[in-house]
Amino acid sequence: MEPRKIVLPDSEIPKQWYNILSDLPTPMCPPLHPGTGKPVQPEDLAPVFPMNLIEQEMSTERFIDIPEPVIEKYLLWRPTPLCRAFNFEKLLDAPVKIYYKYEGASPAGSHKPNTAIPQAYYNKIFGIKRLSSETGAGQWGSALSMACAMFGLECRIFMVRISYDQKPYRRLMMTTWGGECIASPSDRTKAGQKILAENPDSPGSLGIAISEAIEDAVGGKDSRYSLGSVLNHVMLHQTVIGLEAQKQLAQIGEYPDVVMGCAGGGSNFAGIALPFIRDKIHGKDVLVVGAEPTSCPTLTRGPFAYDFGDTAMTTPLLPMYTLGHGFIPEPIHAGGLRYHGMAPIVSHLVREGMIEPRAYDQIETFTAGVKWARSEGVIPAPETNHVIAAVVQEAERAKQEGKQKTILFNFSGHGMVDLAAYDAFLSGRLHQHKLSDEAIALALKSIENLPKP
Ligand SMILES: Cc1ncc(COP(=O)(O)O)c(C=O)c1O
Repeated sequence: MEPRKIVLPDSEIPKQWYNILSDLPTPMCPPLHPGTGKPVQPEDLAPVFPMNLIEQEMSTERFIDIPEPVIEKYLLWRPTPLCRAFNFEKLLDAPVKIYYKYEGASPAGSHKPNTAIPQAYYNKIFGIKRLSSETGAGQWGSALSMACAMFGLECRIFMVRISYDQKPYRRLMMTTWGGECIASPSDRTKAGQKILAENPDSPGSLGIAISEAIEDAVGGKDSRYSLGSVLNHVMLHQTVIGLEAQKQLAQIGEYPDVVMGCAGGGSNFAGIALPFIRDKIHGKDVLVVGAEPTSCPTLTRGPFAYDFGDTAMTTPLLPMYTLGHGFIPEPIHAGGLRYHGMAPIVSHLVREGMIEPRAYDQIETFTAGVKWARSEGVIPAPETNHVIAAVVQEAERAKQEGKQKTILFNFSGHGMVDLAAYDAFLSGRLHQHKLSDEAIALALKSIENLPKP
């Protein structure tokens, strides 16, 4: 009988993360200091992050040891199962084998604790007392609140207003784990006050919430900022997903033809993809696909440019695909995919042709997600529905091409706290949404005068 679940014993949990910076065939553009226009130095980042994480951010060491206290916490739910989606395969009736890595198994329900745990740990041993961060859908905020509780840190989360209203249960998860959750834009920071003065009904955005969290962290005592995606060290921590998947597939003698993930800031996608991209760099034939929303089409329609990671222009200039830091996405339900930029590592690999980005409409994604729920059981997070739509499309292509394909995708999280989004979809209140060329051109005005890569 072919296995439905491939599980690793605790002893097989990866002991190191994989750093793709050591294997890139071409170097990445450096992040720039917005004042001097020169590459950012570690000291520039010191008010924002602890030095141990800054070192990791800039490291080119191929494998980095996972500290023992982090492994101990990972073992609460890791290694996550690698599952075969037999029922979904049957439904699609295409010549595909579909494997998925189930990251919904974490206590917070997504991949986000994979980096929240080490970030809390490194801040703790550096002597930090409080972390500030932002959250879109609330997945990251809840993961960080949990991680802070585990390592005895205070936690303050600025949650994008639209998600704060749509997703009260994530807020309750954060407060249950001891975190403080504030709707953003808020009147707690200058960045928030400015936005509220211009638009008191602003739905918020990840860019605004990041500005508020950085301002709050830098202005506090023994406090630092923590980011749930985008940065190199976050991609690094998430590689535990792909490294486990490689061991699990090896156990059953499989290797994927296609590796897929949804991409908001890029972390869960990088987590599954980077260990396979390492193989690709060394000659393996594997297609790597990143799925994003048509309403926030950073990789498929944005330029590769230098841009700020936040709306108030407080971060270094990052080399990435972007829709412009002034972009405020439509309030679609996949809150975690509503970000104007993309991880520089993912952006670089897209630019180098190692990753193929594709965009999906929210109706298409929820249609795929409901099919999944009705065949495989788990109700996916709205973000995860994007990669499921990509899997459906890939299966259809395999059928048309008459080719047998093995697909591996990252099931980034379950949607048990996102049922309001399913309610909107099932009652016909969701509509197709594709960003217009005019809206993109307007948003990109905010980066016109920035340095070019
Ligand atoms: C379940 C889930 N998937 C995907 C994402 C997108 O983030 P990233 O691209 O960093 O993985 C989020 C972000 O909140 C999420 O909650």
